[in-house]
Amino acid sequence: MTYVVIDNCIACKYTDCVEVCPVDCFYEGENFLVIHPDECIDCGVCEPECPADAIRPDTEPGLESWVELNRKYAEVWPVITQRREPLPDAPDRDGEADKLSKYFSEKPGEGS
Ligand code: SF4
Ligand code: F3S
Repeated sequence: MTYVVIDNCIACKYTDCVEVCPVDCFYEGENFLVIHPDECIDCGVCEPECPADAIRPDTEPGLESWVELNRKYAEVWPVITQRREPLPDAPDRDGEADKLSKYFSEKPGEGS
């Protein structure tokens, strides 16, 4: 299994999660992070760190497409290991529905 980043990270990107990952398996897009499913060791420490409640174990039903999206972009975006400031609109976007279709960007992040 793996943990996976889901919709509510998009356009928030709080990045608290990256500081606690023991294997540095978060990858950064312009407005979203992903977890590499083959690198995650399922420790679970990142899940409670996310202020947007956007990290889940893939044992929850219905997350298959999110696992594949995490895998796809973990292969092309740069690794992120240090916390950044959240995106400026994070408080306004937190909890919005359908952020994938509204805001998702395929562009890579800055890397760290
Ligand atoms: Fe990293 Fe553990 Fe979270 Fe997987 S579950 S992304 S290994 S902190
Ligand atoms: Fe995203 Fe939550 Fe990490 S909003 S960047 S998964 S702390």
